[in-house]
Amino acid sequence: MDTAAPIGVFDSGMGGLTVLQAIRKALPQERLLYIADSGHAPYGDKSPEYVQQRALTLTRFLLEQGVKALVIASNTTTAAAADLLRSTFPVPIVAVEPALKLAVSSTKTGVVGVLVTVVTSQSTRFAALLERFRQDRTMIVQPAPGLVEQIEAGDLTSATTRALVERYVRPLLTAGADTIVLGSTHYPHLRPLITEIAGPEVLLIDTGEAVAAQLRRVLESRALLNQDQLRGDEQFWTSSDTQLARHVIPLLWGDAVDVQQLPEAFR
Ligand code: SIN
Repeated sequence: MDTAAPIGVFDSGMGGLTVLQAIRKALPQERLLYIADSGHAPYGDKSPEYVQQRALTLTRFLLEQGVKALVIASNTTTAAAADLLRSTFPVPIVAVEPALKLAVSSTKTGVVGVLVTVVTSQSTRFAALLERFRQDRTMIVQPAPGLVEQIEAGDLTSATTRALVERYVRPLLTAGADTIVLGSTHYPHLRPLITEIAGPEVLLIDTGEAVAAQLRRVLESRALLNQDQLRGDEQFWTSSDTQLARHVIPLLWGDAVDVQQLPEAFR
């Protein structure tokens, strides 16, 4: 495999941009392809079978683009489809997972809140993760329907978004949580608002940096790191309305970028 080949990253929409940012920082020379599957967002209230079909379709598209590695930048997809993708495709796959281990070692009150989507909260993979890292800590799992839709619309600050964050975060604080795991890659986009509501002393943990570090290890171990000295480029696709994506993706990515429509066969 050509070390200059790109890395494919996908999510149900805008959430994976938080992972893409961490990858760009850790691996500046890599070429990055990103799919926002916003035409099918949110994954979090679909069936696991639906999420699996989307994951298979998007991976096929990225493989057609010649990617050397794949990053699942959606916790819901990891929960529903990571095993399936790994057993179907030979490409190296790195998958996000809620950072429970770090949360358990960080909490001082012994109470950790975990914000996740409904699909993630009901998955056996997530149940196993909780079981593995819980130790003697209290882990409060809080499904947060509605948040992904707000972020997809680029709405990070309205009264509606604030009310939803209040509804999901307040009970965690009341229960004594001093650490909150952002268990969807969408939620880090709400960091400022969550911090405003929870207070700066509450630790918010996401997985972008850990995933980027894992991706580097995987590429290194397979001699796939791009040795080029130039900065890699990014390409973006959406399965939804390009007009909205061309507004929201640059806003969340923090730079002017073009967004293409995913070909019909993959939409
Ligand atoms: C969603 O589409 O519901 C969110 C995806 C994720 O869990 O990161």
